[in-house]
Amino acid sequence: MKRTHYCGELNKSHVNQAVVLQAWVNRRRDLGGLIFIDLRDKKGLLQVVVEPEQSQAFKIAEKIRSEYVIEISGTVRERPDSQKSERMSSGDIEVVADGVEILAESKTPPFLLDGSIDASAVSEELRLKYRYLDLRRPQAAAVIVNRHKISKAIWDYLDEHGFTQIETPLLTLSTPEGARDYVVPSRLDAGKFYALPQSPQLFKQMLMMAGFDRYFQLARCFRDEDLRADRQPDFTQLDIEMSFVEEDDILELNEGLMQHVVKVAVGREVPLPFPRIAYSEAMSRYGSDKPDTRFGLELSQISHIFSDTEFRGFSAVLENKGQVNALILDSELAAKISRKGLGKLESHAKTFGAKAMAWLKKTEDGFSGSIAKFLSEKEIADLAELAPNVGDLILIVADKTKVSQTALGALRLKLGSDLELIDESLLNFLWVVDFPLLEETEDGGFTYMHHPFTMPRAEDIDRIESDPGSVYAYAYDMVLNGNEIGGGSIRIHRPDIQERMLKALGFSKEEAHAKFGFLLEALDFGAPPHGGIAWGLDRLVMLLSNANSIRDVIAFPKNQRGIDPVTNAPNYLDAEQLEELHLSVVKES
Ligand code: AMO
Repeated sequence: MKRTHYCGELNKSHVNQAVVLQAWVNRRRDLGGLIFIDLRDKKGLLQVVVEPEQSQAFKIAEKIRSEYVIEISGTVRERPDSQKSERMSSGDIEVVADGVEILAESKTPPFLLDGSIDASAVSEELRLKYRYLDLRRPQAAAVIVNRHKISKAIWDYLDEHGFTQIETPLLTLSTPEGARDYVVPSRLDAGKFYALPQSPQLFKQMLMMAGFDRYFQLARCFRDEDLRADRQPDFTQLDIEMSFVEEDDILELNEGLMQHVVKVAVGREVPLPFPRIAYSEAMSRYGSDKPDTRFGLELSQISHIFSDTEFRGFSAVLENKGQVNALILDSELAAKISRKGLGKLESHAKTFGAKAMAWLKKTEDGFSGSIAKFLSEKEIADLAELAPNVGDLILIVADKTKVSQTALGALRLKLGSDLELIDESLLNFLWVVDFPLLEETEDGGFTYMHHPFTMPRAEDIDRIESDPGSVYAYAYDMVLNGNEIGGGSIRIHRPDIQERMLKALGFSKEEAHAKFGFLLEALDFGAPPHGGIAWGLDRLVMLLSNANSIRDVIAFPKNQRGIDPVTNAPNYLDAEQLEELHLSVVKES
């Protein structure tokens, strides 16, 4: 290799040294007979000067354009004080070229990469189509490098704590994590399909049964679900499983790991232990199972105030065991919300399932607002205790408990952001614990809240048939600044409990055996008590890198329509391939 240094590595200590550099042309400028080339490589920028006296080099330099790959040989010299630059780490020096060679030419790139314009000025679609160019931008590359650092910190910490990294199959059977599967047709077995794993859940449990005791994997997972800013169809989990542990052991290990990761990635100290909040409390105080605790504005349950209400909208809800919940804004905050703003808040609440949002504003002698005329003297007095000052505002959603809480939780987040209540400098980690095992479905049945392998609380197990909704689980979610960055549970290690759980979920014995027979069988051969967690690695990197979207932390992400903009996947198969896979396409898009 001819290259002697990286551009961004050179500094005053290299003055008078002869160097050979191979890098991209960030920009070329002709100035008063001199040619300046800003060279760029993964370590940074460096200024090269080509003087006319070096006639051969000068002639080549004249042909050079942005994004050419070139080789420079020359000598490092200190720049005069007036020409030192803080824009580049090598800004105290420059290289005077004695030789210039073009290694590869470049067309004019579809967008500027020299740092002269902000990436946000370029459409994301274009940046992602030419992602290999986008990643030449140091800011874009830095996020990917940070991701590497985070992965390495995870490896180091877990290795030190006795974990073994083990890969699990990608061509496998469906894992029930709540999304649709991506499937792969089998050529050898006509009509059969593999599913790509939604997570390595069942394999990691079997690794515990195999005796590995402590497992981890940076595992690729695949889920066909509606895309959002924090979701990708193929994403990466830090997947962890441990044997002979209880919930507290897992939380503690993960807190230590997170503390280490944050220290390495962003040099910040995370205080331990993380706060823990019960699921029901998270819902009632924040209207969310992933509360953002960087600001207040908590929900208030005000059903009791309306126990005798004349307003049918509320009384009907209360008769049906729903709740009246509210957000209370003091007059100073309320003054920032216009009538039109209130309309927008109501529309926002409706997108989260609320039928309506009522509001009441404190006046000198009572309340004004959409439902003011229904208020009794007693209700006015009770509400005035919550909103005592003229101008204070109460936003109310009366609905089924979960709908009311979730809609107000969404309003809380919107207000937090619109009214700039969030302290962006905080890293608020917390655990949400005490999850119910099951959740009632629309049709009156029950479905799992985490997955079907989560252990019911010992004291609740016997209600799994008689009162499934009242059973709690050993399950937990890790939350950072209002984002769910991980989730896990203690697993069922006894076949009898697993069968009861699957029955509660409505699986017949035959169905259960068809879907998870291999796991049920493995449980018959001495499974250790075990549990674990998976972190959303992409989400964590996004939050720790202050990236705008999950796409920024993935080298080649899918766009919002699930398409890979570089290769244009997914694509059609030709007739021959279809035939080989025993497929025929009924309807093309
Ligand atoms: P869960 O389904 O909660 O748990 O997933 C764990 C974490 O993975 C992240 N995540 C995603 N990130 C990006 N794009 C997606 N589409 C996506 N879906 C999930 C989230 C989430 O918290 N097997 C269990 C874990 C266990 O019980 O050990 C599981 O997969 O940050």
